Amino acid sequence: MKDIFVLGIESSCDETAASVVKNGREVLSNIVNSQIDIHKLYGGVVPEIASRNHIQNISEVTKLAVKEANITFEDVDAVACTYGPGLVGALLVGLSYGKALSFAMNKPLVGTNHIEGHIAANYITHSDLKPPFICVMMSGGNTQIIHVKDYTDFEVLGKTRDDAVGEAFDKVARIMDLGYPGGPKIDELGKNGQANIELPKTHFENLDFSFSGIKTAVINLHHKNPDVNKSDLCKSFEKTIAEILVENVKKSIEKTNINTIVLAGGVSANSYIREEFMKLENAKVYMPDLKLCTDNAAMIASAGYYNYIAGKISDLTLNAKPDLKL
Ligand code: KG4
Repeated sequence: MKDIFVLGIESSCDETAASVVKNGREVLSNIVNSQIDIHKLYGGVVPEIASRNHIQNISEVTKLAVKEANITFEDVDAVACTYGPGLVGALLVGLSYGKALSFAMNKPLVGTNHIEGHIAANYITHSDLKPPFICVMMSGGNTQIIHVKDYTDFEVLGKTRDDAVGEAFDKVARIMDLGYPGGPKIDELGKNGQANIELPKTHFENLDFSFSGIKTAVINLHHKNPDVNKSDLCKSFEKTIAEILVENVKKSIEKTNINTIVLAGGVSANSYIREEFMKLENAKVYMPDLKLCTDNAAMIASAGYYNYIAGKISDLTLNAKPDLKL
C-alpha cells in the first residue's frame, strides 16, 4: 500500500507548529516554535501578540517541517490544519496558511479538531493503541472524559462545568507568583512537598468535573497565609486534582466496561498525575510521550490522517471555530 504523508499545521494558542507524519503514526518531523518567552512577560497568552507571532513564523516553520521530513511539498497527500477550538486570531493564521497551501498544491484540506489532535498524540506514542478506549482530556482549555469509539467517532461522557484543569493550574501558579505557564512550575515545586493540606473536591452524580472550588480554596489559603509552604501547597493541589480525575475515570470504567484509559493534553505531562494513573488497578493506561502532551502539529497530522482516510475532507470555505466541540 502507498505511504500517506500528512502535513499538520497547528496555531490554536501560543505554539506555531508544523509536522509531517507518515501513515498516521510515524513522525518524520515535528517543528514547534513556542512563544512562551514572549507571553510570560504578561503572565499569560495575549491573543493579539500570539496572532502576530504566528504570522511571522508560520511559513518558516512549515517549510522546515517538510525539509526535515526529507520529502517535498509534492509528496504531501493532505494538509491537516487545526480549525478549533482555540483563539480565533491565532487559529486563522494556521488555517489560512493551510488553505492557501492546499489550493496552491491542489492537495486535500483536512480541517482538524485540536481535541482530536491531543487524543491522537497517543497513536504516535503507542503503536498498539486502537479505539475503543476512554480518554481523559486534560488541557489548558478543555477537561473532558471521552469515549473514543473509533478514530473519528467520539462521545463526551463528562466535562468541566467551569475551569479547565490546566486553567486551574495556571491561575493557582499565578497567585503564587510562580510564573507562566504554571503547570510545569507546580509540577517542579510539588516534587519537594508533602500533600498535607486538605482541599475541597466537588462531586457530581454524572461524570462532570468542577475545578473552580479547589482553585479558589488554594488562592484564599495563599492570601490568608502567604507563608504557607509553597511546595506542600503545590503537592496537595496536585494530589486533590489527581483524585478528582481518577475517581471520574473509575466511574467511567464502571459505566462503559472499557478499561483502556488514555491520558491527553498538557496536564497529562504532570509527573504526579502520571504516577497516580499508573497505579490504577484493572486498567491498561496509556499516556503520550512528554513532548507530545502539549501543543504540537504531529498530533494534528495524526488526527488528520484518520479523518483523511475516513473521507472527511474540508473545502476552502472552512472557517476557524474558537468554540469547536468534539
Ligand atoms: O494541551 P495544552 O498544551 O493546551 C491546550 O490545548 O489547551 O495544555 C496547556 C496546559 C497549561 O495549562 C499548562 O500549565 C499545562 O497544560 N501543563 C501542565 C504541565 N505541563 C503543561 N500542567 C501540570 N503539570 C505539567 N507538567
